[in-house]
Amino acid sequence: MGAQDVAARIEALRHEIRDADYRYYVLDDPHLSDSEYDEKYRELVRLEAEHPALVTPDSPTQRVPGTVAEGFEPFPHPSPMVSLNNVNTEEDFREWVVSGNRFLRSEDPRRYSVEPKIDGVGLELIYENGRLVTASTRGDGLVGENVTTNARTIRSIPHRLRGSDVPPWIAVRGECYCRKDDFVEFNRAAEEAGERTFANPRNFVAGSLRMLDSSIPAKRPIRYFAYALGGVRGASYATQAELLEALAGLGLPTIPETRVVADADAVVARYDALVAEREGLPYEMDGAVVKVNDAGLQERMGMRIRSPRWAVAWKFPAQRALTRLLAVDWNVGRTGVVTPRAILEPVFLAGVTVQHATLHNLDQLERLDLHVGDEVEIERAGDVIPKILRALDDRRTGAETPIEIPSACPTCATPLARAEGKVALRCGNFACPAQLKGHLAHLAGRGALDIRGLGDKQIEQLLREGLIKDAADLWQLSLDALAGLERWGPKSAQNLLDQLETAKTRPLDRFLVGLGMREVGERGAQILARAFGTLEGVAAATLEELLDLDEVGEALAESVLTWFGEDRNRSMLERMRAAGVAPTPVAAPSGGAFEGLTMVLTGKLEVLSRDEAKRLAESLGARAASSVSKRTDLLVAGPGAGSKLKKAEELGIEVIDEAEFLRRAGRS
Ligand code: IVH
Repeated sequence: MGAQDVAARIEALRHEIRDADYRYYVLDDPHLSDSEYDEKYRELVRLEAEHPALVTPDSPTQRVPGTVAEGFEPFPHPSPMVSLNNVNTEEDFREWVVSGNRFLRSEDPRRYSVEPKIDGVGLELIYENGRLVTASTRGDGLVGENVTTNARTIRSIPHRLRGSDVPPWIAVRGECYCRKDDFVEFNRAAEEAGERTFANPRNFVAGSLRMLDSSIPAKRPIRYFAYALGGVRGASYATQAELLEALAGLGLPTIPETRVVADADAVVARYDALVAEREGLPYEMDGAVVKVNDAGLQERMGMRIRSPRWAVAWKFPAQRALTRLLAVDWNVGRTGVVTPRAILEPVFLAGVTVQHATLHNLDQLERLDLHVGDEVEIERAGDVIPKILRALDDRRTGAETPIEIPSACPTCATPLARAEGKVALRCGNFACPAQLKGHLAHLAGRGALDIRGLGDKQIEQLLREGLIKDAADLWQLSLDALAGLERWGPKSAQNLLDQLETAKTRPLDRFLVGLGMREVGERGAQILARAFGTLEGVAAATLEELLDLDEVGEALAESVLTWFGEDRNRSMLERMRAAGVAPTPVAAPSGGAFEGLTMVLTGKLEVLSRDEAKRLAESLGARAASSVSKRTDLLVAGPGAGSKLKKAEELGIEVIDEAEFLRRAGRS
């Protein structure tokens, strides 16, 4: 084949494969057999391998790339990705209808689009001249994460739009989700292969989108539905129905169960029908989204700060089931709190088999008056762990037995103390293996150092074998010691050592999360890391310096001081440092409009909420502080600003208003 023929053949194959993907994933109407498809795919892979110069990012082969990202870039959305207000009952829904009338003339005909609320993860797709250029998660609504590489692996997301009416620029919004049957099958196969399983489809999808190695989501059954617009050039849509039709025409999958109905009564009827259809539909939904259909009316109704007035999420009632309480076991968490957990006779509820329920504390046990052997009603709302609503005490046979409350730690036998207003049981032994295990699991977890191959089982084993006594010991592990353990070999041992090596330089904020100080979650750790730069910096922070940080309250500040004040913590950090653990300092994102500036916000903001403004500033490199001092570089002052404004003026600090702030942030 000549060079031109090759190029033409490659294009033809791409066209056929895209078409086959579209028919399979969007229309649900395949026209090629699996083997015909595979044959074309393999030919394309081969030709591209022979002619690497002809590979383009929108080639179907690029859905299975081998790239590993370092992290996700922040992505400012072209317009805020709003969320919806919720209603739970028909009464609330009708109230929402009436409240919307204030913005409309009485003669306005109000049709509604009633759509399943897909229980997945929101994703924005931007197409330029018909080509997918970015995919981003919602983030805080203003700035999301750029997950394009992962999104490209989702086969129902077209790399190129179809049809003759492709607008030059369009931001499409929709939901990534996993079908119930695909989810069950994925978990089954994972379990069989001894791999990680997932609690529910939503977590599965959220985790997959945030994988750094995109070959992982490429192997997962994730799909997409488009349902809204983030902006468009060169086109306009008069109604939601017209928009959805246009999106479908562009080759995007839309939700088949969407209906446009004539009035509020018809919305209620359609909602009831969706509740009834719920079990039988292939995907999980957690409610209905009701949108005013007419775009002109939408415009007139307008927005609240974070949500449009013209749309509402009408949640489904939580699903309930009856089962039996078989036993209660007691778990010691990393802070030493001992919590009960109900073990239930397995029951299928809302798409998953439930075998456990949370029982928060002793108080709740007493309130429910639970007995082992009781028949109980449980409820599962959204993706939360099921809870027990009540015991059916009129069905007791007399064979039920009271729940025994342990007086000693189930792990280390230390006598338990009742703390926190007597609702929590606590094991006060810092060296309790269960607490240690909890600490280590937290440190190795995905929100912290993300040490793969160090799961609960491995941690238990290392503790049991006496190879580690605290987190610092992890970096003293040797290949020989690990490889000699039961179920380990040289390969898995080396893998863990490699993981530990990589973990040494994880970003400081993730390291701080991993230390497990009370009150210091993801956000708190980020604030500390940005403000003090290094671990030594955080360790040396004074109470005043901590309290000076925006969003840092007394509880967090005290917790940090207490943690670093404890000898055993300091010595653990010292041993980590000696072993080469050196968290990477977290610089504010670079290249932003406010890079390196210390900013204070004061007065009333009109477009953004305080929180949104702060996050926006931070995403563009600023450090947000709560009080004006010599170190302040910029004050954003809204109406009603008082003492901070005065002080800034005295100190000669630059003061701008919200409009100017938005302009500098590139938002107006
Ligand atoms: S519309 C103005 N439609 O529910 C339009 N959202 O808080 C904004 N969702 O974060 C969203 N199914 O991720 C819309 N058919 C649907 C939806 C839907 C699921 C999610 C979406 C959003 C949340 C609403």
